[in-house]
Amino acid sequence: MKYERIDKGLYIKNRAKFSKQMVAKTLAVFNSNDIFPISADSTMPFQQHRDILYLSGVDQEESILVIFPDCKNEKHREILFLKETSELIAIWEGEKLTKETAFETSGIQTVYWLNQFPVIWKQLMAEAHGIYFNTNEHLRANTEAETREDRFIKSCRAEYPAHAVYKSAPIMHKIRSIKEKEELDLMQHACNITKKGLERLLSFTKPGVWEYEIEAELIHEFVRNRSKGFAYTPIIASGKNACVLHYIENNQQCKDGDVILLDVAAEYANYASDLSRAIPVNGRFTDRQKAVYNAVLHVKKEAEKMLVPGTILAEYQAEVGSIMESELLKLKLIDSTDIKNQNPDWPAYKKYFMHGTSHFIGLDTHDLGLWNEPIQAGMVFTCEPGIYIQEEGLGIRLEDNLVVQENGAPFNLMRDIPIEADEIESLMNS
Ligand code: GLY
Ligand code: MN
Ligand code: MN
Repeated sequence: MKYERIDKGLYIKNRAKFSKQMVAKTLAVFNSNDIFPISADSTMPFQQHRDILYLSGVDQEESILVIFPDCKNEKHREILFLKETSELIAIWEGEKLTKETAFETSGIQTVYWLNQFPVIWKQLMAEAHGIYFNTNEHLRANTEAETREDRFIKSCRAEYPAHAVYKSAPIMHKIRSIKEKEELDLMQHACNITKKGLERLLSFTKPGVWEYEIEAELIHEFVRNRSKGFAYTPIIASGKNACVLHYIENNQQCKDGDVILLDVAAEYANYASDLSRAIPVNGRFTDRQKAVYNAVLHVKKEAEKMLVPGTILAEYQAEVGSIMESELLKLKLIDSTDIKNQNPDWPAYKKYFMHGTSHFIGLDTHDLGLWNEPIQAGMVFTCEPGIYIQEEGLGIRLEDNLVVQENGAPFNLMRDIPIEADEIESLMNS
């Protein structure tokens, strides 16, 4: 890991939050992710499952966390099972958690090697009445790959059909969405690294630069600041490419007169940041580009004011839509007839602003959270309106990350990252 060790107090608190929600005499299991294969002996870089990470800090493959608050054996109320390490294994495979460093990381006293799992698991299941499985209930989850967790659930259900089954997901969505101070500090750190990356590319960008050259500048800046890299696949979309919402090729040359939409941000310690900015290739926006830019910025500023406790996200999205509608009227992109004839399920503004305004952010870029509950202090959201005009080869999105506060306006973790059009221009020309 490139990041500094995180205080284990965070994981002790996180487990306490989970345990508090459990039904009596049940246990919960959380598996790490697999290391996904490519082909031959190549593998993808390891990415830990964010739930076991959130509950233990263990950032290592082949790990299992068991939480069993009512277990008669006090030592078995929290257990970590880890891949065995030794001095010899360390020579071949590099540093892995020892039982001591696993305790230092997680605050969990009982650490067994994975080969002890079958025997201990039998004892635990004999005592437990029910089990919490950690299924993926993210609304946008869409994958064919079977995870280690999926395999575990399948085999456990076959082996223990008489146990009551509960879902961890609603608990995880609830507790992970409200961030602890330590987490906000890590997210701020990720945003600060992103800021350095943006500053680097503002002085680098000029007509003729290739989108992938900008990507290279960013990864350089991120990694030298102890980030693993991008928090999500970066979008560096010049000109009309910006109108392809998930453009990730980043293989075109940036032309004089075009605007580049950048949706690029660093992770730090597995916490995401998520930034969008739009910059003129030649350092100066045209009047039209600036008018569209300022319309997006206006919508963003108005939307942010609504990220306060009690807001219902569906109502927020509708309200942002009506603010966007008046901006699009002013830009003459839509007119009153378009509005009069609009389909209420797909209002006219959606022709130019077709995505959501905000999502939860944290350990996952599109983080866990309950979309139908009023928002609360300590939640972190992006705010990212955009206008995409195919016919003008222009797409602008502006995105920051904001913490909902008990009182007043949200706290912007990206408050120091330039966003006003004039600021962007003067930094590009300094
Ligand atoms: N970068 C992904 C998003 O903005 O949601
Ligand atoms: Mn983004
Ligand atoms: Mn986003």
